[in-house]
Amino acid sequence: MPSVDDMIIRKIQTTQKINVRKWGDGVNKTNKAPTCVLFDHEEKFVSFGYEAMNDFRLNPKEIDYSKWYYFEHFKIKLFKQEDIVTKETMLEESLAIQNPESKKKMYAVDVFAAVISYLTGEVVKEEFMQSKKHKGTKYKLEDIHWVITVPAIWDQNAKLFMQDAARKAGILGKNLTLALEPEAASIYCRRVAVGDSEDNEGCKAIAALGIGSKYVVLDQGGGTTDITVYEVTGKNTLKEIHQACGGHWGGITVTAKFNNFLLRLLGNDVITNVKINNPSDYYQLLYNFEHTKASFTEEHSKLPKDNQTLPLPFSWLDHFQKVTGCDLEDTVKQSMYRSRVSVKRDKMRITNELFRSFFDDSIKNIVKEMENLLKKKKLEGVETILIVGGHSMSTILTNAINKSFGKAYKIVIPKNPDIAVMKGAVLFGFNSRMITSRVSQ
Ligand SMILES: Nc1ncnc2c1ncn2[C@@H]1O[C@H](COP(=O)(O)OP(=O)(O)OP(=O)(O)O)[C@@H](O)[C@H]1O
Ligand SMILES: [Mg+2]
Repeated sequence: MPSVDDMIIRKIQTTQKINVRKWGDGVNKTNKAPTCVLFDHEEKFVSFGYEAMNDFRLNPKEIDYSKWYYFEHFKIKLFKQEDIVTKETMLEESLAIQNPESKKKMYAVDVFAAVISYLTGEVVKEEFMQSKKHKGTKYKLEDIHWVITVPAIWDQNAKLFMQDAARKAGILGKNLTLALEPEAASIYCRRVAVGDSEDNEGCKAIAALGIGSKYVVLDQGGGTTDITVYEVTGKNTLKEIHQACGGHWGGITVTAKFNNFLLRLLGNDVITNVKINNPSDYYQLLYNFEHTKASFTEEHSKLPKDNQTLPLPFSWLDHFQKVTGCDLEDTVKQSMYRSRVSVKRDKMRITNELFRSFFDDSIKNIVKEMENLLKKKKLEGVETILIVGGHSMSTILTNAINKSFGKAYKIVIPKNPDIAVMKGAVLFGFNSRMITSRVSQ
C-alpha cells in the first residue's frame, strides 16, 4: 500500500502541473528573474528582478544614484563561505556612484525580507489568485506553505538568517520549509524523464536507478557550484552520502573574466568614469554581455576566428576619449588584443576564441573539484552525474563535463536545468521526509 505522502506526491506528479511564473518582457521571458533589487533613498523597496535592472539601467533621470540602493547577486555576495551571517550583517550596494571607494549599505536581513515579501505578497496576488482556476477561491496567506531553497554549502547561521528574513516578511514558522538545493534538484530529477532507462510504466526516469545507486548532483548556479552525493534508499527516499562541497564558480565567474578583460583593454580610470557618470550605460554593457553569453555555444567555439558582437554604448567611447585622449577604435588596433578584438562605432567584436576563454576558469575549477571528489573511497559505485542550475544551460560547460567524465559516468541533464531546484522544492514541500539522512556538518 502506498503511504498518503506517496499518493500526494503521485497526484502532484501525474495530475498537477507545477506552474512556473515567467519573468521579463516580450519574447525573452525566462523561468527565473535575476537576483537584483532596487530601494529608494528611504530604503523602501522599489522593484525586483528585470524591473529593478531596467529601472536602474534605463531611468537615470528618475533615480538618484547617489542615494538609492541597487543590489545584484546579493545572495552570493553575502554568503562567502568564511563569513558568519547574522541579523546585524550589512550588505554593500553593487555600484558606488558618487564615490567608488565608499559603497552604501543596508541591513542584509532587510534586503532579503523585502524581496521575500514582494515574492510572497505581490506575485502571489497577481499570479496565483488572478488565475482562472483560483478566481473566487477564499484564501488567507496562512493557507500557503512556502519553501525557500538554500545552497547545501550554507552553514547553520546562513539558514537561521534566511528564517529571520522570512519571518520579517510575514511568513509564519509553521508555514515555512527550508530545502537544500541539490536535494530539491534530485527529487525533481527522479520524477521526470531525464535518462534513457525506462521504469515499468515505460517512463524514462532517473527513478529507474535502483535502491543503492549513488549519484552526484552538480548544481551550477549564478554564484555557486554545489556538489553533493546521494544514494537512493527507497522509491521516494534519498540519503546524502557526501557533504556538499564546491565553490564560487557559477555563471558570474564568466562575467568576472569579461570584466577583467575590459579592465585590461580600457583601464580602470575609464571604467570608473563610466560607472560614476553613466551608470546606466555601464550596466547596459554587462547586460549585453549576459545576452551574448547565454547564446554562445560549443558550436561557436569550433569556429575560433568568427566573432561575437557586443553593442557598446556611446558613452564608453566618449569616456575613453576624455580619459586617455585617444580614440578607442585606433587604440584597440594597436593593443595586445588587436587580432582578437575590434571596435567599430558602437560595436565591439570579440573572436570566439577569446570569448570561449572567459569560461575557462569556471570549467577548470569545476572539473578539478569533481576529479578530486570522485577519487574518494566512499564515492566508489557512483555511476551518474546529474547536472542542474542555470549555468548548465551552457553547452560549453556541459561539453567540458562530458569530455572529462562522460566515459566513466552517465551524465544526466534535465530538460530545464535552471528550474530543477524550484520544481523539486515544490515536491519537497509536499513531502519533506524524502531525505532520510544527511551527513552532519
Ligand atoms: N544559456 C546560458 N548559457 C550560459 N549561462 C547561462 C545560460 N542561462 C543562464 N545562464 C547563467 O546561469 C546563471 C544563473 O543560474 P541559476 O538560475 O541556477 O542561479 P541561482 O540559482 O540564482 O544562483 P546560485 O545557485 O548561485 O544561488 C547566471 O549566471 C546566468 O548567466
Ligand atoms: Mg541555484
